[in-house]
Amino acid sequence: MEIKGINSNIDKEWYSFQKIMKENLESNSSLLNTINSYLLDNKGKQIRPLLSILSAKACGQANELSVTCAVVAEMIHTATLLHDDVADNASYRRGAPTVQTTFSPAASILTGDYWLAKALSLLVKNPNPQILGFFTKTVEDLSEGELFQMQKADSLDTTEEDYYNIIYRKTASLFVAAIKSAVYSVGTNKEILVSMERYAYHLGIAFQIRDDIFDYMPQLNTGKPAGGDIKEKKITLPLICALNSATSEERGSLMVLMRETIDDERLVNEANSLIEKYSGIQLAQKALLGHCQSAEDALSVLNESVYKSDLVKLARYVGDREV
Ligand code: FPP
Ligand code: MG
Repeated sequence: MEIKGINSNIDKEWYSFQKIMKENLESNSSLLNTINSYLLDNKGKQIRPLLSILSAKACGQANELSVTCAVVAEMIHTATLLHDDVADNASYRRGAPTVQTTFSPAASILTGDYWLAKALSLLVKNPNPQILGFFTKTVEDLSEGELFQMQKADSLDTTEEDYYNIIYRKTASLFVAAIKSAVYSVGTNKEILVSMERYAYHLGIAFQIRDDIFDYMPQLNTGKPAGGDIKEKKITLPLICALNSATSEERGSLMVLMRETIDDERLVNEANSLIEKYSGIQLAQKALLGHCQSAEDALSVLNESVYKSDLVKLARYVGDREV
């Protein structure tokens, strides 16, 4: 399923989104401007700002603050990736070398700081305590989620509950902030706000499960190498599902390989064969589709519109097997 062209019903706001983001990143540092151009040339699908604008328009009249929410969501997202690629020592993202390899790890962290600061200063320019609160909450969640994931990569005892806790914080929380703030900006009623938060929650959870499934599918062209999660000792849903049915010997031998960290290829192969043997991908796919359906169901409170149809399309896109 393609999502190209999904911004065609939001032309005006999408144009403002691109313009405001570009203008606000202008800096006096030529190095920073070079890195920013590199990032804008290698931008991703920009799903979070799409969700902000579509949600605002599905719930009311989108305004300047709604577009600000979209810009802030994309800026915070970019900041997290700049930091995450250093934390994971990642070489590729979106099919291109990461900022930390092209420039340096320090440049990646500092550019991330700059994007985060710019996001917060945009919120300060157009002050709204609730919206500021939605975004600062996700910044806390994102950092805590990453640190909890780090802790679990050391103890190697990630349970299904831990996994959902991590992916809520590191991914779904920003979907919630992007959507809830934009819906709030159009002054909608409480029932719609709560339903849209439910949509955002399930879509964000589904989005991360999809990413974690794709990490075990080297045949897909995701723009980043497959097998990264297990090498980084991140125990994600396909493996958790397989480990739930594995024998204690199988579990034990995988843990030894993870602890030794001397043979990454063997570790990836063993994880893949456990996942294959115990249908880890299929089980994770089932959970993914359940969250996509819950996201779609949450939209039932909205009146019919092209924006609502696009939000449904996005939920179906996340449940799709294609990249
Ligand atoms: C990607 O996960 C990483 C995230 C979704 C969140 C990263 C958050 C931080 C580094 C902390 C907070 C930072 C700021 C600026 C508030 P992944 O590594 O599983 O996915 P990947 O394969 O795409 O790298
Ligand atoms: Mg990463």
